[in-house]
Amino acid sequence: MDKEVAKLTLPGKESLDLPIIKGTMGPDVLDIGALSKADLFTFDPGFRSTASCESKITFIDGNKGLLLHRGYPIEQLAEKSDFLEVCYLLLFGELPTQTQKDKFISKLKNHTMIHEQLIKFYSGFRRDAHPMAIMCGVVGALSAFYHDSLDIHNEEHRETAALRLIAKMPTLAAMCYKYSIGHPFVSPLNKMSFAENFLHMMFSVPSEESVPNPILVKAMDRIFILHADHEQNASTSTVRLAGSSGANPFACIAAGIAALWGPAHGGANEAVLAMLSEIQTVSNIPKFIDKAKDKNDPFRLMGFGHRVYKNFDPRATVMRKTCYEVLDALGLHDDPLFAIALKLEEIALKDPYFIEKKLYPNVDFYSGIILRAIGIPTNMFTVIFAMARTVGWIAHWNEMISSPDQSINRPRQLYTGPVMRDFIDVSKRG
Ligand code: CMC
Repeated sequence: MDKEVAKLTLPGKESLDLPIIKGTMGPDVLDIGALSKADLFTFDPGFRSTASCESKITFIDGNKGLLLHRGYPIEQLAEKSDFLEVCYLLLFGELPTQTQKDKFISKLKNHTMIHEQLIKFYSGFRRDAHPMAIMCGVVGALSAFYHDSLDIHNEEHRETAALRLIAKMPTLAAMCYKYSIGHPFVSPLNKMSFAENFLHMMFSVPSEESVPNPILVKAMDRIFILHADHEQNASTSTVRLAGSSGANPFACIAAGIAALWGPAHGGANEAVLAMLSEIQTVSNIPKFIDKAKDKNDPFRLMGFGHRVYKNFDPRATVMRKTCYEVLDALGLHDDPLFAIALKLEEIALKDPYFIEKKLYPNVDFYSGIILRAIGIPTNMFTVIFAMARTVGWIAHWNEMISSPDQSINRPRQLYTGPVMRDFIDVSKRG
């Protein structure tokens, strides 16, 4: 069958045939490769209409509220799987058999510790440094320690780097928190699950025996699953862009962490809590709803809206359920901040402005509330997002590097600056 093409008619130029490419799901994509030969570019700031790459990892249909990893719905993975199984799925394309799973977990456990020299990096930071600032530094610095996994063209090196990153992120993240409060660092305990070990490294102290609450361990694991990957979002696209130049995986993931930090992306879960504190009381909510609706006020309801989901965020549905489970388990329904959050959710879901603009609570609205209930300080929220998203970033990076036609990503621009002009000597500038 002939390939379908779209015909582009251009004033004063020959018309162009643009092949239409079909994916396995989702909208068709126009192959615009021929445009540059005709000295033309497309203009799509914010990439609202641009497919930046081909990928087999994650599919999102924002209108239907659908999120699939390697074809599996996120709701099923959140309900029936666990984070490390989802990591395997994202990295290797299939759910593991029990033997594959055991082998994968055992390999990861070889990499949970941190090099003693790297531990010294922490003391170079101020105790009140934002943990995301520390994470940008220490994750990038991993490239200085693991020279045996830096050859990006070697499949084994790529796999080792992936395992190192996934295994070390919880240790590095918990160390940020322990450093900020002046506690000794807690070593990873490999007999524990990924989520349990993270809570152990965050909250245990040498003077007390502590066993993480299983409900909180489960909630933490769900948060990791729900944040594991999300197609070509800003941080994943950053990782791909950095990686396209041949940069090493540790440096690329550090770039992803930097991109995630912003409040329009991963920083939103932290911003949600800041907003709830600013609202102060349930009676102030209408004032803030009015501010969010005011076109002349830059204020937005943090944790509401999404670039892709215009129906509902399927991750938010699962997270909402987990949120209620955690609040019940900890008897926190009366906490004033949670009361504000729940009332805000109720009002915004009924308000015509939010309904019309399809602004539903997103994953970060509920994850912030759960993390606070678990006792995680607000400035660690985005770090936890980064820990979970590391597997998504590395899966996309690996997919890109192993593609036979991989080349540096180099977008073009619509230039609107001054046209060419002659240099004027400083004495003659008026
Ligand atoms: N509160 C009030 N109004 C909003 C909000 C909000 N949270 N989000 C969007 N709007 C309005 C916006 O003012 C605009 O109105 P108008 O059409 O009158 O100009 C309209 O809705 C469309 O907004 P947009 O900025 O064109 O939408 P976008 O797709 O560029 O932005 C977003 C998506 C997530 C950046 C935005 O909804 C937002 O800033 N939300 C708050 C931050 C947040 O919760 N981010 C976490 C996203 S989920 C985690 C992740 O994937 O990283």
